[in-house]
Amino acid sequence: MKPMPRRKIVAGNWKMNLVYEESIELAEALLEGLQEEKMGDTHVIIAPPSLHIQPITELLLFTPGIAVAAQNCHEEASGAFTGEVSAQMIRSIDADAVILGHSERREFFGETDELIAKKMKAALKNELSVIYCCGERLDERKSDAHEEVVGGQIRTAFKDFSADEMTNVIIAYEPVWAIGTGETATVAQAGSMHHFIRSVLEELFGAATAEATSILYGGSVKPGNAADLFAHADIDGGLVGGASLKADDFIRIIYAMGG
Ligand code: 13P
Repeated sequence: MKPMPRRKIVAGNWKMNLVYEESIELAEALLEGLQEEKMGDTHVIIAPPSLHIQPITELLLFTPGIAVAAQNCHEEASGAFTGEVSAQMIRSIDADAVILGHSERREFFGETDELIAKKMKAALKNELSVIYCCGERLDERKSDAHEEVVGGQIRTAFKDFSADEMTNVIIAYEPVWAIGTGETATVAQAGSMHHFIRSVLEELFGAATAEATSILYGGSVKPGNAADLFAHADIDGGLVGGASLKADDFIRIIYAMGG
């Protein structure tokens, strides 16, 4: 499996939005609108609904710098799990990565870090990179438990992982109170959490892995706040929800990382 050094990454999580034609239009708009020289060495990942992955991977087949991710996968390879999609299936349509542990999956589908760990193993086994999401709720931030919560999520999720496996893991810190609310974490809040996450990775896997792991910030990233967030040394990019549904906004966020 190809190791991924610490990279600048801007990822768009389209969530359960856009019908087929709209997904294709958005992917085409990115393909046409993105100018390589303004992207710098930023890697772009888009995560359309799983039904739309294949036509989009076909569309982007010869486009370096834009990868495609699924938003979830099942932990088993195959079997009687009606309605589910396996990592193997996702890989078979040329997706590159999968987002796992998003707070919406934790909240609405009861996903725990133990389950997320199994899903991550399935993804890595099928040569998909993982974007692992973590983050505290508002009450946890208010009671000053945010580091304990996020540290706990990471320690549980990566308990049985090796430094080698971590080369294909990207972490996304997404404070739940900042997702879809228009309320962004301040650069200081995000930067300090990213620094803390890196220290937990160092404790678990050593300094080289901690240094090499990309940590993205997610939660109301917009064209207007992206440059400030991305300027922080510990913020390696963003995981963007709402603003990734508009090609112009998403492109401006990508350029904020590249520029
Ligand atoms: P918003 O950018 O809409 O706040 O969503 C963030 C997110 O959940 C990305 O995974």
